[in-house]
Amino acid sequence: MMNKRDFIKTTAAASFLTFINPLEVLGATSSVNNKKALVLGGRGFIGPTIVNSLLKAGYAVTLLNRGKTNAHLFKELPVIICDRERENKEGLKSISEKYKSTYWDVVIDTWQKSPKAVADFLDEFKDHVGHFHYISTISVYDKWDKKFIVETEPLNPLPSFPKTIAEEHRYAIRKTFCEEAIRARMSNYTIHRSHGMKSYRVTRPEDPNAQPFWPIRFYRGGEILLPKVENHYMQVTDVVSLVNFILHCTATKTYGEFNVAYHPTLFKDYVSSLLHATRKESMSDYTTSIIRNKKMPIKLQWIDGEFLKKNGLEPYKIVPLWRERPVGAYSFNVQKAINAGLTNRAMVDMITDQIEGYKSRFPEQTFEFGEIYKGEKLKYYPIEKEKEVIKKWLTK
Ligand SMILES: NC(=O)c1ccc[n+]([C@@H]2O[C@H](COP(=O)([O-])OP(=O)(O)OC[C@H]3O[C@@H](n4cnc5c(N)ncnc54)[C@H](OP(=O)(O)O)[C@@H]3O)[C@@H](O)[C@H]2O)c1
Repeated sequence: MMNKRDFIKTTAAASFLTFINPLEVLGATSSVNNKKALVLGGRGFIGPTIVNSLLKAGYAVTLLNRGKTNAHLFKELPVIICDRERENKEGLKSISEKYKSTYWDVVIDTWQKSPKAVADFLDEFKDHVGHFHYISTISVYDKWDKKFIVETEPLNPLPSFPKTIAEEHRYAIRKTFCEEAIRARMSNYTIHRSHGMKSYRVTRPEDPNAQPFWPIRFYRGGEILLPKVENHYMQVTDVVSLVNFILHCTATKTYGEFNVAYHPTLFKDYVSSLLHATRKESMSDYTTSIIRNKKMPIKLQWIDGEFLKKNGLEPYKIVPLWRERPVGAYSFNVQKAINAGLTNRAMVDMITDQIEGYKSRFPEQTFEFGEIYKGEKLKYYPIEKEKEVIKKWLTK
């Protein structure tokens, strides 16, 4: 049974999609009726948004996974139980003839582990796939040594392709190998290179370290420390916009590689979106917040970046979405995807999703960044550190 929280999660994800479904805009919903979609995975972080979106667009959706992760989600859908990490394609071989002979109009692969598993799947199924989508990452680019990197820039140099599933490589190399495996086998693919995906869901729902720092900080309110830095840009990928782009590429038979993210965005504009999202929040949640004394009116304290560094608030690891090196970070060129039909929704909608997701996972707001939680020191910095640095700045 789907519990209340998961119901809200899945329906919330689906309801956000009602606003911007490119297939509806194109009048294409009816044309996908009876088309078959296979989602490899589908029950983790981005998978549920993909599945909901495909269902809403009218696809008959089948999942392929081991039935381990979030097995309570999409119980109504057929699931091909298959372990992609078994050597010699043993997992794929055990799939029933019915599914082996099915023609899948669209297949979406979210795989981030062994590249051999992607190659194995395609070797077995590529002749039965209309359009293959792969969720990749900007980590596939070799050098982040300049701004506005486009899709034709060199990728990570690779050793020879892994002969076994067990062969280990770091994340960026695995993803680059996966892309190479796809390119070597087909042309009817779209590769989506994302840059820091943000969503209602998070990769590790129970882990405070996986929760979104800035949306939560603004949601809690009070006096907020912000880095005052020249030319400070940030860049992220909104999962809902990415998934809509996947559907759009399918409907328009758009193939190739795409950087998929918002345009590089000035950090102060991101702050405007945070303010807008949390102002809506504070109106709907005003009484509760006063009672809990968790939220106060927001006051911004923009503090010189060098001063922050001197006081232990370093970019990126301590202060998220502030990154000075490498120079290409948060500055990837997404114009190719925009030209092909990527429509990034308003950033405030993404932030609102993130806050709703956080509230559903931590209704009692039981952790503080930078403090000890269940025996572990959390990422970023605690409220006391923020207060201390603000005071020091104002009295210097
Ligand atoms: N750029 C970013 O910021 C960012 C952030 C997070 C993720 N990502 C990328 O996003 C992608 C999406 O990951 P996701 O968690 O959202 O995917 P997902 O499809 O939502 O979840 C992963 C799925 O894979 C299945 N799976 C795991 N091991 C398997 C196996 N051995 N055989 C068959 N199925 C297996 C899991 O089910 P079972 O366990 O039941 O098998 C689960 O359904 C990843 O490629 C990752 O690189 C990017």
